[in-house]
Amino acid sequence: MYHVTNIHTPKRLNCPLHSLMVISTDTSNQAENTKMETPDAETPPPTSNAARLAIMELANMISVPMSLNAVVRLNVADAIWQNGSNKPLSAAEIIPLILPSGAGDPENLQRILRMLTSYGVFNEHIISGDILQRRYSLTEIGKTLVTDENGLSYGAYVLQHHQEELMKAWGVVHEAVVDSSTEPFVKANGGETAYGLYGKKPEMNDLMLKAMSGVTVPFMKVVLEGYDGFNGVERLVDVGGSAGDCLRMILQKHSHIKEGVNFDLPEVVAKAPKIDGVSHVGGDMFDSIPNGDAIFMKWILTTWTDDEVKAIMTNCFKAIPIGGKLIACEPVLPDETNDSHRTRALLEGDIFVMTIYRAKGKHRTEEEYCQLGKSAGFKSFRAVYIDHFYTLLEFGK
Ligand SMILES: C[S@@+](CC[C@H](N)C(=O)[O-])C[C@H]1O[C@@H](n2cnc3c(N)ncnc32)[C@H](O)[C@@H]1O
Repeated sequence: MYHVTNIHTPKRLNCPLHSLMVISTDTSNQAENTKMETPDAETPPPTSNAARLAIMELANMISVPMSLNAVVRLNVADAIWQNGSNKPLSAAEIIPLILPSGAGDPENLQRILRMLTSYGVFNEHIISGDILQRRYSLTEIGKTLVTDENGLSYGAYVLQHHQEELMKAWGVVHEAVVDSSTEPFVKANGGETAYGLYGKKPEMNDLMLKAMSGVTVPFMKVVLEGYDGFNGVERLVDVGGSAGDCLRMILQKHSHIKEGVNFDLPEVVAKAPKIDGVSHVGGDMFDSIPNGDAIFMKWILTTWTDDEVKAIMTNCFKAIPIGGKLIACEPVLPDETNDSHRTRALLEGDIFVMTIYRAKGKHRTEEEYCQLGKSAGFKSFRAVYIDHFYTLLEFGK
């Protein structure tokens, strides 16, 4: 039976056509009252209003990343930022800044901006009057999409995630459960691995390099302010160093490091820019790793299985002297599951790894990393928490 409630009262609008009636068909109280009755196998469990709302939010959530992808493709953040002005603009004012023809659909852009405002990417400024006007500026989150003088931002990482080849894999995530011997990405892309495809498609390789730089540069700025682990190092090797941003920044900060070696796949280092004091070396970390006093790596171990991580760490162990160390920056999972932004970002990244890179590659806990280090021969272990996403893991020989 219907009953009327005023628990949730929407705002009454000025429009004369609007009359307000809130009707709730919430069965949760009825369910409470009848929960002692014999369950009927044919009857689905009762649902609460809150649960129905939450599942609708989850089911529609694809709108969030895809809209984020749309605003990056359209360069909306740069259009609003305008060299630091961040002046609130309407969708109609943004359109000529992002589309050279000046023609576009402001209403649809506003729909996207409004939804992303709800996720904290934009601030919405409402100007009331006969017709309500909405304007948008960038929040702290939105500012991560503004490109710097080198054209870098988190935007490239957003674009990288939504390339056609990666998107195909998301339709078959369940395959990682059915048969974990092959990655969903590989199944969806005719047997190709993600790194294999980056190697074959220059545009994917370029976007990967740009995405890594966009995420890594702001992270390294924070790490270099708070981390003392590079003291005493003279020759530093970055395994899987991509374009060499980490080494460039570490060497700029620590003048006692005389030599940096940026080690990555041959096709990746071939595209890396020249950096003073850094030599780019192409190779495969599963074969061998160049020698150094210390080895740095960021976002490498996560994408591999436990056996592969052990093999990489064993090669690192061989490449450093007694007293040397491996410094790995990886997403480290908390033991407990909760709904914090940090836990969610880490668990979402874990599913990304499972789907795209390695069905049994994973985000790990501190304890799991400690054990893997021990199995590769390391004698000491320390975890340093500076950044909310990546933890610095130090393994001493
Ligand atoms: C997630 S990216 C991290 C890049 C960089 N460290 C950063 O955080 O910006 C992983 C890197 O590992 C490199 N990589 C993958 N397989 C490799 C291998 N077998 N040997 C050396 N590098 C490899 C990739 O080319 C890529 O640059």
